[in-house]
Amino acid sequence: MSFKPRSVYELLGGEESLRLIVDAFYDKVEADAVLRPMYPADLAESKRRLFLFLVQFFGGPARYSEERGHPRLRMRHFPFAIDRRARDHWFDHMCAAIDETGIEEPARSMMRDYFERSSAFLINRPDTIEIED
Ligand code: HEM
Repeated sequence: MSFKPRSVYELLGGEESLRLIVDAFYDKVEADAVLRPMYPADLAESKRRLFLFLVQFFGGPARYSEERGHPRLRMRHFPFAIDRRARDHWFDHMCAAIDETGIEEPARSMMRDYFERSSAFLINRPDTIEIED
């Protein structure tokens, strides 16, 4: 007998919760003075890409790669200056979006663990230090 662990996508019962999370997340990005300037004026495409990526990553249809190819997230984020502070803002907004959407355990922790690691992995600039003279 074999046991196949259920994917986050299955636990969520499809893509609708991921759409709600991405919407809630981008509402927070929109109001964030550190993150907002990194994104294009119109957030619709950014929203759509993150949504398709998450559907694919968490075990749903691979529509992201059909459209965008291999994710290569580190490379795609390199143009944006992601230091510890930007990463913390991103991660905090994502955790809040997950909670506002009412995602239950175990999916909640599975998602938080993934975002904690992946967001740290995307830091690509040193912290800004303020030197007093
Ligand atoms: C660490 C903080 C992060 C910052 C500041 C950040 C910022 C950005 C920005 C400015 C873009 C370009 C917007 C656009 O799509 O046009 C982007 C794209 C994207 N980000 Fe992030 N991001 C972060 C973390 C993450 C994480 C953790 C993931 C996934 C787990 C992720 C997934 C994506 C995806 C899938 C795209 C679209 C890539 C593409 O197909 O071009 N990001 N991000």
